Amino acid sequence: MSDVQNRRILLASRPEGKPTLDNFRIEAAPCPSPGPGEVLTKTLWLSLDPYMRGRMNAAKSYAAPVGIGEVMEGGTVGEVVSSRSDLFRPGDIVLGHGGWQEYAVLGEKTLRKLDPAAAPVQTALGVLGMPGMTAYTGLHNIGQPKPGETLAVAAATGPVGATVGQIARIRGCRTVGIAGGPAKCRALIEEFGFDAAVDHKAPDFPEKLAAACPGGIDIYFENVGGAVWTAVFPLLNDFARVPVCGRIANYSDTAPPPGPDRTPQLFGAILTKRLRIQGFIVWDFASQAKDFQREMGAWIREGRIKYREDVVEGIGNAPEAFLGLLEGRNFGKLLVKVASPGMQAPD
Ligand SMILES: NC(=O)c1ccc[n+]([C@@H]2O[C@H](COP(=O)([O-])OP(=O)(O)OC[C@H]3O[C@@H](n4cnc5c(N)ncnc54)[C@H](OP(=O)(O)O)[C@@H]3O)[C@@H](O)[C@H]2O)c1
Repeated sequence: MSDVQNRRILLASRPEGKPTLDNFRIEAAPCPSPGPGEVLTKTLWLSLDPYMRGRMNAAKSYAAPVGIGEVMEGGTVGEVVSSRSDLFRPGDIVLGHGGWQEYAVLGEKTLRKLDPAAAPVQTALGVLGMPGMTAYTGLHNIGQPKPGETLAVAAATGPVGATVGQIARIRGCRTVGIAGGPAKCRALIEEFGFDAAVDHKAPDFPEKLAAACPGGIDIYFENVGGAVWTAVFPLLNDFARVPVCGRIANYSDTAPPPGPDRTPQLFGAILTKRLRIQGFIVWDFASQAKDFQREMGAWIREGRIKYREDVVEGIGNAPEAFLGLLEGRNFGKLLVKVASPGMQAPD
């Protein structure tokens, strides 16, 4: 048995409304050993993503919740430190689902080997991974961008929103990014090449958004819901498409928002404007993964798609960083740098 300790973050309790640090517990456990067909990985990078808020609830969803006392789940890039698989050997860098912990035993069939020479390995958790593929597939399959159309997207400096905006621009759209605060709005224009940027925290946000979309909105890539959706809704053009990707403004709601029931207006607009509003989960389009990797890889190499990372050091800081993500304190793809490659395997 190894005496190397594995620090890991467990779900301690289910949040009522907004999660707090008390919902997590850090503990040290003995480092696990791989069985046949498995490898032991040392986590180098942990991805923190909004969907993890849903996994903290017991409610039925498209994926099972994390159990109380279980390790929080999450995508990871790790280094193989010991292997009982013919497919992987120590030193390989792999993409997997190791969760919020320093070491994980993972089955060989759940892993993809990464080439550190092709791209920084952590991009497999961001622009070249699940969030990038969410942007690519949701935009193309449901948004169906056409030259000259106006696209709007919120959470626009995050890995999904920033990628949506840049792909839409490549496809010839006029792009309007919505983000929280002046610094993020500046980055939308200067870093990511959006045509216009609007701060959803400004008191006159609905008017500013309308001014930024003089011809209305043809594609609204929905990441947020809440007040942003309320401002976007009247601006939708006939035949507008709304890929519903996320609704982070509502993830911690415990009751329906106050106010009148707006369902009749929504259904009225869907009918008279012939709107197409469709939810999706990235893996609905799993068969398009190879197209995504090829096209996105080329766009990044050519400098046509930019990405921004927000890196936090150490597994112990994951809970605080995750709470910040839900509040918009991240600025770019949120990653935890857990360790550096090259350490000896625990025996
Ligand atoms: N359907 C799928 O398969 C799928 C896959 C991946 C992600 N998603 C969804 O895509 C969305 C973006 O994910 P991401 O990884 O790119 O996250 P992200 O943009 O890095 O982080 C979330 C951002 O949401 C914004 N936000 C939070 N609360 C808000 C509010 N009340 N109103 C407006 N904006 C708010 C904040 O940005 P600001 O500071 O700019 O407000 C925050 O930084 C999320 O809703 C996520 O759940 C869906």
